[in-house]
Amino acid sequence: MRTDAPIGVFDSGIGGLTVVSEMLKLMPEERIIYFGDTARAPYGSRSAEEIKEFMFQILAFFSAQQVKMAVMACNTMTALGLKLAQEAMAFPVVGVNTGIHAALQASTNHQIGVIATEATIASGNHARTLQSLEHAAVLYPQACPKFVPLIEAGELISPRTEAAAQEYLLPLQKAKVDSLILGCTHYPFIGSLLRQIMGPNVTLIDPAKETAADAYAILAQQGMLAKTGSGSRQLCFSADLKRAQRMAGHVMDLETVQFTKIDLQDFVGYHREEDCVG
Ligand code: DGL
Repeated sequence: MRTDAPIGVFDSGIGGLTVVSEMLKLMPEERIIYFGDTARAPYGSRSAEEIKEFMFQILAFFSAQQVKMAVMACNTMTALGLKLAQEAMAFPVVGVNTGIHAALQASTNHQIGVIATEATIASGNHARTLQSLEHAAVLYPQACPKFVPLIEAGELISPRTEAAAQEYLLPLQKAKVDSLILGCTHYPFIGSLLRQIMGPNVTLIDPAKETAADAYAILAQQGMLAKTGSGSRQLCFSADLKRAQRMAGHVMDLETVQFTKIDLQDFVGYHREEDCVG
């Protein structure tokens, strides 16, 4: 594997761009290929089987791009499929950091909230990470199924988004959480609304920074960081490039970005044994 090979980053839609934005700050010389499955988002209300099937189609796409690493910039796929992907692929696969460590550090009353998709909350991934640390903190999970469709539609500021946020955050306000994990990579797009509702005494934890740092650490450890080059970003989506372009503009400078439409149908029926290690 060459150090100048690209890094694949992916999500169900535009959410993973919040992770790309952090990666660009940390490793600007890397070639990044992003894939957002905007034609089939949201994933978070789908069955585990379907989510894993889509995940492997995306990984097959990245296999064909000969990436040196894939960053699963989606909490839902991370919760349901990260281990499977790590076992199956020939390149390292990094999932979204749970943000639990950062939340514990920020919290003084040890009441921690996590908002995420239905599938992520149902997986218990955040609760398991907290349990494994044997910390006395209490976790308050809240599924927010209305958020991803609203954000994908570009409704970052709208009465519907605000009403959904009020509804979802109320139980967390009642529980007096003092740190709140954004357990879905789409949510930083509405970070200012969430901050406004939770107030100045609650720390919002966006695990994108830790996720980018996790990816960097693995590349550094394997001697796989790009040594030279000014980097490049290719953003691929399965639907509506114009909308994706508008949303990408919220989190990154688009001057040198190339946008491409990808049809994942070419990777349907992908069999793990054929394309992977083992
Ligand atoms: N950004 C994805 C996540 O972090 C959203 C999944 C969805 O499409 O519902 O979970």
